[in-house]
Amino acid sequence: MTEKLQIYKCDICGNIVLVMHSGVGQLVCCGQPMRLMEEKGEESGYEKHLPVVERVGGEVRVKIGSIPHPMEEDHYIEWIEVETEKGVMVRFLKPGDKPEAVFKTDEEILKARDYCNLHGLWMSR
Ligand SMILES: [Fe+2]
Repeated sequence: MTEKLQIYKCDICGNIVLVMHSGVGQLVCCGQPMRLMEEKGEESGYEKHLPVVERVGGEVRVKIGSIPHPMEEDHYIEWIEVETEKGVMVRFLKPGDKPEAVFKTDEEILKARDYCNLHGLWMSR
């Protein structure tokens, strides 16, 4: 059973999927069940990963994290996502970018998430 907006990863090929509609079946890739990415909500270790959300007028800026996360070839934030009542907005990042994203919205942000290619999925409310 999946839940809407869960994120699953295949540990063999690296596929990562976002659930847009829940179903009773198990997600399978490369012949084995995909792994549910747990959302980490507390910092651990040296690098900071929790999204810091800041609203300025009709924009929301999300920085990762309290100390900017590295954006190197082999270690970087792949995307930043915000969730509102109506849905989700996602910005994809690449090495060399700033670890932040700006979303134009007046909607209340219920939750922000980001994904580090080495340290997984993080979230703050
Ligand atoms: Fe990281």
